[in-house]
Amino acid sequence: MRIVLGVGGGIAAYKAALLLRLFTEGGHEVTVVPTEAALKFVGAPTWEALSGHPVQTDVWSNITDVPHVRIGQEADLVVVAPTTADLLAKAAHGLAGDLLTNVLLTARCPVVLAPAMHTEMWDHAATRANVATLRERGVTVIEPDSGRLTGADTGPGRLPEPEAIHEAALAALAGGADAPADLTGRRVLISTGGTREPLDPVRYLGNRSSGKQGLALAQTAAARGASVTLVAANLELPVPEGIEVVPVQTALELQEEVRSRSAAHDVVVMVAAVADFRPAEYTDSKIKKTHDPADPDAAPTIRLVRNPDILAGIVADRGSASSPVIVGFAAETGDATGSVLDLGRAKLARKGCDLLVVNEVGVDKTFGQDETSVHVLTRGSDAVVDLGPASKSQVSQGIWDVVVGSLAAH
Ligand code: CTP
Repeated sequence: MRIVLGVGGGIAAYKAALLLRLFTEGGHEVTVVPTEAALKFVGAPTWEALSGHPVQTDVWSNITDVPHVRIGQEADLVVVAPTTADLLAKAAHGLAGDLLTNVLLTARCPVVLAPAMHTEMWDHAATRANVATLRERGVTVIEPDSGRLTGADTGPGRLPEPEAIHEAALAALAGGADAPADLTGRRVLISTGGTREPLDPVRYLGNRSSGKQGLALAQTAAARGASVTLVAANLELPVPEGIEVVPVQTALELQEEVRSRSAAHDVVVMVAAVADFRPAEYTDSKIKKTHDPADPDAAPTIRLVRNPDILAGIVADRGSASSPVIVGFAAETGDATGSVLDLGRAKLARKGCDLLVVNEVGVDKTFGQDETSVHVLTRGSDAVVDLGPASKSQVSQGIWDVVVGSLAAH
């Protein structure tokens, strides 16, 4: 998941470095957004080294990336630790004077604030009102611990330990304390990534699929109680603990792993971008250029053969059985023969799966490229569920809502 860790200007900023570690060790991609004041306590090199990304506090750097909008839009979760009284006030009133407050205004994902301040500030009517406003809007404001504060005084206002904030953050990511546990006891098989078809020991035919959507589906299914197996084609992203990973490279390997496991699962989701063709011959040694002066432009012709349609194959394997529920994905642009939905409906009929998640591609999206919009089609129904634009994680939750309905109907 893509987590933004905001850091406010308080002495407890050092604890956020430990929190950052917990997130990165869990396989999350973390962007740290400190305030200017936070850097007086813990400097930029610490955040950059621990997160692996540069940090900025204002909205005036890297303007072409539009960071004040993009970082918030792309986040699956925003956590601010420590949140000072000043930050609480700014968040409650929608001020946007620096990068972190801009992120808080543009984020549409769960937001968790971990306040830390002196007891008098925490108890002040202004702070109480700000916390109440934020909670009313759905923001999780963690109660501070009671204990030793910066000076000799003690009382409520201490930043909770990083482990406690981490736990609250993961609960928020999974949909909060009210997250439906509606996939408990269900076995879910998801293919993700993109297959690579080798040509020789150093070359392959591949595609640009990052595997992020499949990973988000795996994480959200696990959070809803499912036991998840991820058949991962050349996935370069870390997979959080608790999800079984079966690495594969080619379409044939992916077919083998998915087909042999499919019947033992309640749901199979084919998100992987499968190469439809592979080189007919694999050459054991590197294909070399010829150096014939008479024919300096000589180039080989590569013959391709069709790969199997794995999705259609598991539908055929299932036969008349009602399990597993089979979900396909399709990226469509729409063309002269039909709209995105027309093409999606035709593909759903052709593949025979239960649900088809149609992803509209090619739409000009200058901002928020990590956001996605999909239409979920159900076999035998004219109903369309539109999800997004939202993060891949939020869209995944909507997809699981539809799958859960489908499981109930099976
Ligand atoms: N798929 C598959 N095996 C293939 C190709 C695709 O199982 N050889 C699956 C994908 O994982 C996805 C769905 O089929 O769930 C649709 O993929 P897409 O590439 O859109 O389907 P194609 O049949 O290749 O459609 P097109 O006619 O657009 O090429």
